[in-house]
Amino acid sequence: MSIVLLKDVRKDYPLGKTTVHALQGVELDISTGSFISIVGPSGSGKTTLLNIIGCVDQATTGSITIDDQDVSRMTDNQLTDLRLFKIGFIFQSFNLIPVLNVLENVEFPLLLMKKYTSKEIRKKAEEMIEHVRITEQISQRPSELSGGQRQRVAIARALVTSPRIVLADEPTANLDSETGAQILSLMKRINEQNNVTFIFSTHDPDVLKYANDVIKIRDGKVIERIKCQ
Ligand SMILES: Nc1ncnc2c1ncn2[C@@H]1O[C@H](COP(=O)(O)OP(=O)(O)OP(=O)(O)O)[C@@H](O)[C@H]1O
Ligand SMILES: [Mg+2]
Repeated sequence: MSIVLLKDVRKDYPLGKTTVHALQGVELDISTGSFISIVGPSGSGKTTLLNIIGCVDQATTGSITIDDQDVSRMTDNQLTDLRLFKIGFIFQSFNLIPVLNVLENVEFPLLLMKKYTSKEIRKKAEEMIEHVRITEQISQRPSELSGGQRQRVAIARALVTSPRIVLADEPTANLDSETGAQILSLMKRINEQNNVTFIFSTHDPDVLKYANDVIKIRDGKVIERIKCQ
């Protein structure tokens, strides 16, 4: 079953007097529970594509269906709920809140959901922190952590709400290769255990070992889809 379905998606950015055609007719069908890597040269449209799938940016034209919901028909409030309840984000630069410690960073999206008591929030956050193996650093702030530890916190924060889809824009780019491999296997473990769909961009050649499919994009178009396993 498809969890993400894109048909003829185009994205234009106005740039001075010209227009950048960042996506030029993307067709994409991603099944539930898959572990998908998006690769392509710098400027090919990877970040734009992830932002559109994550509903943080809108396509210029084309149709986008996320978990059977047509995104173009949704109101701003419905889009906010879709992002909060169904999607988790992991960014290259971690985007953790500097004044909050590890536990508070992971609790943050649960507070926004306004669905759980503070006791439940604490329990869920602590479990997720345990899951990504960062319990020893639970009271530290992001500035006191290594790059790999920060990325673990970012993963815990993305997953604590039990999203259906996790989007990650170059999650290993700022990490050394060993830490990058650990982060990829952590993501893969969570993908397999919880049937969460992962879609992530990367320049990491090692990703072929983990991904189900590698989607190659160039000049804003999908040029190839390689089935790995
Ligand atoms: N806000 C913007 N305004 C104008 N052009 C933009 C904007 N954001 C992206 N672009 C352009 O859209 C194209 C795709 O950019 P995008 O960031 O999606 O590429 P990318 O594949 O993620 O590249 P990288 O590997 O360097 O991160 C590029 O030509 C870029 O210059
Ligand atoms: Mg990018």
